[in-house]
Amino acid sequence: MIAIGSDHGGFELKEEIKKKLIQEGYEVKDFGTYSPESVDYPDIAKPVCMSILNGECEKGILICGTGIGISIAANKIHGIRAALCGDCFSARMAKEHNDANVIALGGRVLGPGLAWEIVKTWLGVKFQGGRHQTRVDKIHLLEQE
Ligand code: RB5
Repeated sequence: MIAIGSDHGGFELKEEIKKKLIQEGYEVKDFGTYSPESVDYPDIAKPVCMSILNGECEKGILICGTGIGISIAANKIHGIRAALCGDCFSARMAKEHNDANVIALGGRVLGPGLAWEIVKTWLGVKFQGGRHQTRVDKIHLLEQE
């Protein structure tokens, strides 16, 4: 199950990405927002991230205007590794090297075509482990300090 959520700045792109995911056969849980009315991105980041931590969802997609605020909020939650991506190379590395369990996108930055390529890239690759696992483990240690 893929969790998805956005604030108003990412609402339109969230709807596009959700539609594409469903067309491709992914199961999607939409945590809102459900209209273009203004909402605060931390209020969306939290339930999306909690659904990953509690095992309901495997991965999450978060979208705000720039992707910045919502990724900062998500990264405050221990166990979440949210990667703000604006290109496919970063999306690939975010999973292969950083094991990002959340990808963040800027709804006012990316067109829907590029955004979808970024999401597909991130979903289509695997964490490489090895030396990267050591580094991810050290991120977890930082959370305990
Ligand atoms: C909302 O206007 C906007 O600030 C938000 O979507 C996001 O871009 C913040 O980082």
